[in-house]
Amino acid sequence: KHLSIALIPGDGIGPEVVAEGVKILRTIEELDPELSFSFTEFPWGCEYYLKQGKMMDADGIDQLQNFDAIYLGAVGYPGVPDHISLRDLLIKIRRSFDQYVNLRPVSLLDPSFTPLKDKSDKDIDMLVIRENSEGEYAGAGEWLYKGRPEEVVLQTGIFSRKGTERIIRYAYEEAHRSNRTLTSISKGNALNYSMVFWDEVFEEVGKEYPDVETYSYLVDAASLYFVSDPERFEVVVTSNLFGDIVTDIGAGITGGLGLAAGANINPEMKYPSMFEPVHGSAPDIAGKGLANPIAAIWSVSQMMDFFGEEKWGKAVLDTIKGLTVEKENLTPDLGGKATTNEIGDRISEKLQKL
Ligand code: NAI
Ligand code: MG
Repeated sequence: KHLSIALIPGDGIGPEVVAEGVKILRTIEELDPELSFSFTEFPWGCEYYLKQGKMMDADGIDQLQNFDAIYLGAVGYPGVPDHISLRDLLIKIRRSFDQYVNLRPVSLLDPSFTPLKDKSDKDIDMLVIRENSEGEYAGAGEWLYKGRPEEVVLQTGIFSRKGTERIIRYAYEEAHRSNRTLTSISKGNALNYSMVFWDEVFEEVGKEYPDVETYSYLVDAASLYFVSDPERFEVVVTSNLFGDIVTDIGAGITGGLGLAAGANINPEMKYPSMFEPVHGSAPDIAGKGLANPIAAIWSVSQMMDFFGEEKWGKAVLDTIKGLTVEKENLTPDLGGKATTNEIGDRISEKLQKL
């Protein structure tokens, strides 16, 4: 099998962590005669913007269209407003390629990484499935009477039946396939249109999956449970905004942004899917070899899973887990002294010894 991969290293620590992810992909390619990858790098990002006046080429989406996958580091840097860097590249790609599923594992690699007392990797092991194409982030709204006393601002959430059903069905499928419980996070008591609709769809679609055990929590209560008893959650499905927020709580209870991975999926494979760490460009540590590449490498594991190479997805994740038991194998964000490059090398070496 061959996969063509578009690389968008981006800004700050983006290129540093992407280099380590590519190292792991090359290792897999070497070890598996059935698999090969080709890489095409795109120089898009904030530096590009400062020189060219745009985050990506005007026909950038066309250029990416025929790749199997996109592997992205991070975009955003001081000097370029964040709404430009995010909207004109990242969000544009997610939207154009209908990557409506955002998969974010919230899974504890090592008990020492969580600030929660008495929680082990058995307690914190969930997959958050976030709606990634509409909802609260649809971008709809209006700014009326700007600057006047009667000024009113509307930010409209858009929840289509198609959009809501497909994400909820994806989550049921995942829970069914993996024999796990499914929890919906919403807010029907206060958001009297959108979230009442969400809850109804969750129940309706559930009728097709009588074997899946379901729970439904309000987002405020769920946020508390994430830190008080995370063992309640296995597969979680939620809206764009709530998913954004609860997965940062998820990062907080599992060791921080250096470990949080994400995949933006178009399940039908009509368009390329995009794999990226959740973190940003971290200008405060960029260029010093301090960045933790594990989030980016975990995204490589997600990429392997998505393309049906679960054997490699699991091998990469197991290797990461095996590595982090020793402090000398940690970057400074986790209290160690290892560099970005060293972590990549060690994971690559361990994979070769499997
Ligand atoms: P950030 O995620 O870049 O950094 C937050 C904190 O976490 C910093 O202290 C940073 O040093 C640390 N951190 C992040 N990743 C790390 C890693 N791999 N290893 C060790 N420490 C790590 O978020 P921030 O500072 O809010 O944003 C910086 C820029 O990144 C902004 O321009 C923002 O718009 C952009 N951004 C881009 C994202 C993307 O491309 N997906 C996501 C989030 C932010
Ligand atoms: Mg976020």
